[in-house]
Amino acid sequence: MAGDVERPGAEQWVPSGAGLDELRAAAPDCRGCELWQDATHVVFSKGREDARLMLVGEQPGDREDLEGEPFVGPAGRVLADAIDAAGIPRRQVYVTNAVKHFRFERRGKRRIHQKPSVGHIVACRPWLEAEFDVVNPDVVVALGATAARSVLGRTVRIGEVRGRVLPPDAAGAASALPAPVLVTTHPSALLRIDDAAKRREAFDALVADLRTAADAAAS
Ligand code: URA
Ligand code: SF4
Repeated sequence: MAGDVERPGAEQWVPSGAGLDELRAAAPDCRGCELWQDATHVVFSKGREDARLMLVGEQPGDREDLEGEPFVGPAGRVLADAIDAAGIPRRQVYVTNAVKHFRFERRGKRRIHQKPSVGHIVACRPWLEAEFDVVNPDVVVALGATAARSVLGRTVRIGEVRGRVLPPDAAGAASALPAPVLVTTHPSALLRIDDAAKRREAFDALVADLRTAADAAAS
């Protein structure tokens, strides 16, 4: 399963009992898999320890890798618009990724996004677990299949689970969760829809899912 990952996972690099500042300071030293080698920056997270919603994406993209911040590229704009449209105050939202380094393939001057493997997702999960401990969110939102795989510790079909608040024990036994989970689509999926009406529909569905999560967090 972790065959394409050359290192043992992030565990030994994650300081125990650390707060967010300490985690953020330690992340650049992580050698838990090989993805740090070609990346510009580790991309840790954005948001406050007292946030009620934790949004988990896939991995940083090209822009995020260059800037060292999550969701600052095109998918980030879609996500910010959706959070605003759902009426969720930004201070209630903590945003992070399942995998903290950008995985890509170089083609000439371009860097083409590559999905992280299950091995990378598993290697990086200790960081997410440390974030669970610190933020202790009321609800976790998994954006897309990679996030769902990391959060739930098993592969799910987005279409089968999306939009419902799943109890913490929906995760596999080895993947303890601090809170219920809602799985929805990744905002970058919207960027691949050419038809404007269909894209709008997909955006509205993302907004509705975020609202469901926020309502569950408030209850
Ligand atoms: N996509 C993600 O999943 N995360 C980011 O930070 C940016 C794009
Ligand atoms: Fe560590 Fe995660 Fe980066 Fe791999 S992707 S080196 S596990 S922080």
